[in-house]
Amino acid sequence: MKNISALNIKNKRVLIRVDFNVPLDESGKIISNFRIRSAIPTIKYCLTQNASIVLMSHLGRPKGTKTPKFSLKPLAEELESLLNTEIFFSEDCISDESIELSKDLFPKEIHLLENLRFYNEEVDNDNEFSAKLAEHGEVFINDAFGTAHREHASNYGILNYFDDNGYGFLVDKELKYFERKLSNPVEPYTVILGGAKVVGKIELIESLMKQADNFLIGGAMANPFLKILGKNVGAVNIDEENLNIAKSILEKAKQKNINIVLPVDVIASNELSDEADWSVMTLEELPANCYGFDIGPETCAIFNEYLINSKTVFWNGPVGIAEMPQYSIGTQSLASTLKSLTEEGVITVIGGGDTASILMASGHDDSFSHISTGGGASIQLLSGHKLPALTEMEVINS
Ligand code: 3PG
Repeated sequence: MKNISALNIKNKRVLIRVDFNVPLDESGKIISNFRIRSAIPTIKYCLTQNASIVLMSHLGRPKGTKTPKFSLKPLAEELESLLNTEIFFSEDCISDESIELSKDLFPKEIHLLENLRFYNEEVDNDNEFSAKLAEHGEVFINDAFGTAHREHASNYGILNYFDDNGYGFLVDKELKYFERKLSNPVEPYTVILGGAKVVGKIELIESLMKQADNFLIGGAMANPFLKILGKNVGAVNIDEENLNIAKSILEKAKQKNINIVLPVDVIASNELSDEADWSVMTLEELPANCYGFDIGPETCAIFNEYLINSKTVFWNGPVGIAEMPQYSIGTQSLASTLKSLTEEGVITVIGGGDTASILMASGHDDSFSHISTGGGASIQLLSGHKLPALTEMEVINS
């Protein structure tokens, strides 16, 4: 695989697959432009090389229909204000007019294509669709780490149509942290896990167990582990599958001498709503009709102590219902500790998806060594799998 800086893109037309799949609110407003900002270094580098630039991305899952709420048009405006330059926009990513527009671009001009997933051919990795997209550029760059676990026409099939292809600075930074820093971590290595369920994370946890010394588990994910250990989890119902997975993880951790650290207290309520009263209690005090919606202060202190003694930290999943302020204290406390540790040189990596969105919404954009732009892609890498779009690039270039 080639880094963009190893390719000759001077005065060329560069087609870049970006991942502008940003969260939008009900009115279509961009909630976080993190993924767009993360693609800027590659775009700016192309500008320094006098290249013309064609950007393509998906947004949401419109399933082959031209759905206005999934249009990339508002993203063109966002990009315009971030780069302070005009962005040309085409309403159909493979129309003759859009291809013509790309071919007519002057050096340093930028053209954004409409949502690739307005065509089913994108997710079907359709050959003809790849060929059409390829007409937009002379050099192909993949800077869409968040989509690299997909084999789609714009990141996988398209490679057959370019001799000159490589990856951008965003992908480079993601690989640096996931493939280099976390696969060979400076120890002690601590993993924070939160979120809803342990089902679906088993491969990730087992793979992380090869290197990690400590797992700090919060959020609903802690409940099956607590239950197996005979602790009180209040009103929570846990199915057999989650219990069995937790049991097997606890056994493996014991064999490997890995610390599984669980909550000892919670912030609890009998209902998940802004109106309901909440209080701090130990697990033993949790009434049978209540749920723990966040880790409590004693648990925060224990978790923070492990973090302070770590040299590498990976975090996937908030440890409470962090979008509600009353249940975000645990997540924010761990984030503040990690911010200080990062300043002291500890490697801190935040998985993409919910964890990244929540931490950035609370002003933690620059608090960690790395915040991933890819939720599914980062989990796939850390679970020991390859990312097809990048692996294929390696094969084609070898
Ligand atoms: C993501 O948000 O994880 C990527 O953009 C991939 O989106 P997808 O899960 O819809 O393929």
